[in-house]
Amino acid sequence: PRIAVILAGGEGRRLWPASTPQRPKQFLRLFGGRTLLEATWERARAVPGIRDVWVVTGAPYAGLTRQVLPGLAAEHLVIEPSGKNTAPALALVAGHVARRYGDAAVLVLPADHYVPDVRAFAEAADRALDAAATTEGLVTFGIEPTRPETQYGYIELDQRAAPPGVPIATRAAGVAGPAAVPVRRFVEKPGPEQAAAFLASGRYLWNSGMFAWRNTVFCAELERVAPDLGRLAARVAAGEPRPAWEADWQALPSISVDYAVLERARRILCIRAGFAWDDLGSWLAVDRHGMRDEHGNVVLGTAPAVVQGSSGVTVLTEELPAVVMGVRDLVLAATRDGVLVAGKDSIEGLRQALGILERKL
Ligand code: GDD
Ligand code: MG
Repeated sequence: PRIAVILAGGEGRRLWPASTPQRPKQFLRLFGGRTLLEATWERARAVPGIRDVWVVTGAPYAGLTRQVLPGLAAEHLVIEPSGKNTAPALALVAGHVARRYGDAAVLVLPADHYVPDVRAFAEAADRALDAAATTEGLVTFGIEPTRPETQYGYIELDQRAAPPGVPIATRAAGVAGPAAVPVRRFVEKPGPEQAAAFLASGRYLWNSGMFAWRNTVFCAELERVAPDLGRLAARVAAGEPRPAWEADWQALPSISVDYAVLERARRILCIRAGFAWDDLGSWLAVDRHGMRDEHGNVVLGTAPAVVQGSSGVTVLTEELPAVVMGVRDLVLAATRDGVLVAGKDSIEGLRQALGILERKL
């Protein structure tokens, strides 16, 4: 079968104080309406042939997850003993999936993405799952890069493959569309110089953070490149109860699947995403997609705000009304958890500043 797995356990620190460890970004209604997690759930359901949607998250978020996703079956909610980033989370799910289905074509979806065109997304995911079902590779979704972003992974396409973007009949699937092309290498979060060189070369795409693979192929890669994760998956697949593997879990390193698996994988393929996409992980990303007035100001939140004589300002206020006057290129956010006032070109330091703040609390 085809199944989807939503990664929903991140803390979303770069959106503080809207996102906090108590209520991280996936549970926020950033642009009104639905939470990011609900939007992800609906995207997963739109992909042809998806039988079940699983969610993996930490114990502190189990209640919020059930509340936001009433359609989520109890047996499809996987709770991690503690937050260890995405590689252990996916190894744990892989064990459950192996036990439940034997094998499955798995679509992995982060819960912090902005994807306005659900139909185009579903079409690309359909192709990615076909490629995953018929090859031994881990399938990535490549995004056309537009800036030397250092917070993303980069995918170098194999130049011997057909030029990207050229439609080739995907024989296995029996449908026409750009095929999955082989990837030469995967580099997670390069430094600024490397990112600039990747962008200039024209040979790299951004990694969207969504993946498609056969569960058995992923487990085999785990065993090869991260044996401790492979062992965890195997123990869960064998039906060992949580107390039996919990000590092993606590000993695991905290590491993302991009570093632990993708950078070392034997065979990676890439599907061009072909749909509008962004990671809503930071204030600048929120700013890119909020509704702007004629001066480039974006006003979000549940309390009223007046912005005068200002430009390029992003304001989010909850509970307290706000007045903003005569400033430019700032992010201002006020919630019951804190107040942020930051120049847009300084905002990258937010994570570090929060570390200092925590020591004062
Ligand atoms: N269950 C669980 N447990 N989920 C987690 C954990 C965890 O410990 N940590 C993070 N997540 C979830 C987040 O909630 C998010 O939905 C997803 O996993 C990705 O985590 P991020 O922390 O947002 O990753 P990133 O944005 O820095 O990097 C990834 O995405 C980029 C594009 O959005 C990588 O895949 C990059 O290569 C990629 O470019
Ligand atoms: Mg992210």
